[in-house]
Amino acid sequence: MSEDNRAYLSGFRNFFETEAESGILPVGRNSPQRLPGDLYAEQLSGTAFTAPRPTNLRSWLYRVQPSVVQSGYSRIRLGHVEAPEATPADPNQLRWDPLPLPETPTDLLEGLFNMAACGDAWAQSGATVYLYACNRSMDERFFYSADGEWLIVPQQGALEIRTEMGEMAVQPGEIALLPRGVKFQVQLSEATARGYICENHGAFFRLPDLGPIGANGLANPRDFLTPVAAYEQRRGDFELVAKFGGNLWACQLDHSPLDVVAWHGNYHPCKYDLARFNVINTVSFDHPDPSIFTVLTAPSEVPGTANIDFVIFPPRWMVAEDTFRPPYFHRNVMSEFMGLVHGVYDAKAEGFEPGGASLHNCMSPHGPDAETFEKASTAELEPVYQGDTLAFMFESRYVFRPTEQALTADFRQGDYLEVWQGLKPHYPDGMK
Ligand SMILES: [Fe+2]
Repeated sequence: MSEDNRAYLSGFRNFFETEAESGILPVGRNSPQRLPGDLYAEQLSGTAFTAPRPTNLRSWLYRVQPSVVQSGYSRIRLGHVEAPEATPADPNQLRWDPLPLPETPTDLLEGLFNMAACGDAWAQSGATVYLYACNRSMDERFFYSADGEWLIVPQQGALEIRTEMGEMAVQPGEIALLPRGVKFQVQLSEATARGYICENHGAFFRLPDLGPIGANGLANPRDFLTPVAAYEQRRGDFELVAKFGGNLWACQLDHSPLDVVAWHGNYHPCKYDLARFNVINTVSFDHPDPSIFTVLTAPSEVPGTANIDFVIFPPRWMVAEDTFRPPYFHRNVMSEFMGLVHGVYDAKAEGFEPGGASLHNCMSPHGPDAETFEKASTAELEPVYQGDTLAFMFESRYVFRPTEQALTADFRQGDYLEVWQGLKPHYPDGMK
């Protein structure tokens, strides 16, 4: 990753305080009778007031005007975002080419493509998965999602994410987390951008427990970076788009909503460079289960059973002895939506392209394709560095329901099942 010279605060969902002008943050109280600069105090809560302390998330924002200075909301349509009609959950193994880049001016919201959803957003469980492809910045448009936290996984093109709590530069290989309700706009640092978004409707992403791994390893908290306070006092005609109940609504503002001069609290956006992930794997034989690659987990009410996990398959050494090294054939109770940021995924010889996606739902069999199986079964087992790869998985306890538009998209691969049909029986006749 290239160096990003701006200031960040280090730590995962820590209590931070930051001010763009010195002397703005009130001391010793959240909401004094009168604030420095006659700013307005506004609390943004991410959890119920009474959530247990270890999971309680809230921040105090000190802004030029309170968020309620806005017009009424009206329903709008942009891109391919709409809450899909109920489609039958599909047990077929599904795979898609990359979402084509747009040919007409398209910002990130206009370039969203709703792929699949699981759980029930109304009941605050599960997630919705989008692809995005865009070629222009959100200029006078801002956005927040009331439906869930956004995990953005850029695949192509760096993003400048300007939030009401500060600015983050995020490029492919990094991820951004935008909490439910936080307002932001996405500007492009390059001509085009493409990637994946997981809108997590359930409990917020957190770092997984490490068990016998110990106190260090996987994603370390200090590598999560939160922006420092930054604000603008811009007047004009602005549109604030809200994702609410699966649909988009918009209201008008006569000022930029990025007018927070200072804030404090533990509810804030952050970014993380996936190259910082400390990869742990076997040094003898067999595979640990892929949960060893969990970056973030959003738990459900069942212990050890995620609402949604974010799992990566990053560059790493493969050293296992007497082991079929690519992912084995499997049928899982959890449902898996996969994407590829760059390089090659070791279970597939071809067809799974950077920017592409696959969906393997609960108990639907999958695994290495025939070509990969043949190669890996006969390969000389030297230590191998698999350097050019960064695949990831959104894995849920809930079955994903692909949208009608994803099932009928031109970029869906209709022949995906063929990749396994060359797996012939080799067991000799009469060997009983
Ligand atoms: Fe799988």
